[in-house]
This record gives sequence, structure tokens and C-alpha cells, in this order.
Amino acid sequence: MLATASTANVDFVRSLGAETVIDYTTTPFEEVVRDVDLVLDAVGGGTLLRSMKLVKRGGTLISIYEQPSVELAERLGIRASMNQTIPNSEHLCKIVQLIDEGHARPTVRRVFALHEAQLAHELCETGHGRGRIVLHIAD
Ligand SMILES: NC(=O)c1ccc[n+]([C@@H]2O[C@H](COP(=O)([O-])OP(=O)(O)OC[C@H]3O[C@@H](n4cnc5c(N)ncnc54)[C@H](OP(=O)(O)O)[C@@H]3O)[C@@H](O)[C@H]2O)c1
Repeated sequence: MLATASTANVDFVRSLGAETVIDYTTTPFEEVVRDVDLVLDAVGGGTLLRSMKLVKRGGTLISIYEQPSVELAERLGIRASMNQTIPNSEHLCKIVQLIDEGHARPTVRRVFALHEAQLAHELCETGHGRGRIVLHIAD
């Protein structure tokens, strides 16, 4: 499995299990990657377009950011779609169970109190960082 990250997060992403981590601030990923079976895109824009060209014919790209170009996907002979998760209480309870049982280990970046919701949003909108941002609503 390959992953991309900025310099400060390379070791962290490797510790999560990526065999190869490409520092996207110093190395265009096309120099390291080609003909992959599956891309998971969380960035969109130009990064998504570049990523589509690295998927081998018959492979798949899934973006959680935006709908990939259908025309480009057809031309490249790949499947490309956007996946949108709409959480419900059943899903959230299942995630809590996976964490409690030690199957999932979330990394928490920062916890904000409810009255700091604006700060939480501003941090979220930077598009960079390590781990989840938590809004503490109730004990
Ligand atoms: N469709 C859905 O259901 C769904 C669900 C959750 C999130 N999303 C969306 O998916 C996006 C990512 O969510 P997130 O919670 O993971 O955001 P996040 O915590 O802000 O993380 C964004 C990640 O993208 C990396 N990144 C930024 N620019 C990059 C680039 N040019 N090339 C490669 N990596 C780059 C950052 O790495 P560095 O910090 O190392 O720069 C960071 O790890 C957001 O736009 C969010 O709204 C969609």
C-alpha cells in the first residue's frame, strides 16, 4: 500500500501501515507510482486528475472529495466514483464498538469545547494536519 503525506506526517503515515509514503511536497507521486489497482482520493482538484491517470485499465478510483470526471474515466478505462458517507446512529455505535474492542485506533488531533466550534471549523478548513478534530458536546 502506498500513501501520500507532507514531510511532517511521513513517519506517522508509515506507522499506520503504509509500505511506501510519498512526501507530496517534494516528490510528484507520478515519479513513484503507476498502474495501481485502486486509488482513494481525499484531496480532489488537480490531485484527483493526476491520480486517475495512475490507475491501470480496469482499476478503480474512489474520491471522498468530489465526483471524478466520467469522460476521463471512460477514456482511461477505469471505474471512478464519489463515495459519500451519511452517518447514522447505527454506524456511529458500530464505530464506537470497533474502538472499544481495539479494532480501530483513532488519532485525536485536538478536542474543542462546544463554545469553540468556530475554531474547530477553522482548523478543519486548513486541509492539513494529523488526526481527528473532536467537538466536546456533553459528558
Ligand atoms: N465524502 C464523505 O463522506 C467525506 C467524509 C469525510 C471527509 N470528507 C472530505 O474529505 C476531505 C478529507 O477529509 P479529512 O477529514 O481527511 O481532512 P483532513 O483531516 O483535513 O486531512 C486532509 C489530508 O489531506 C492531505 N493533503 C492535503 N493536501 C494534499 C495534497 N496536495 N496531496 C496529498 N495529500 C494532501 C493532508 O496531509 P498533510 O497534513 O500531511 O498535508 C491531510 O492528511 C475533506 O475535504 C472532507 O470534507 C468527505
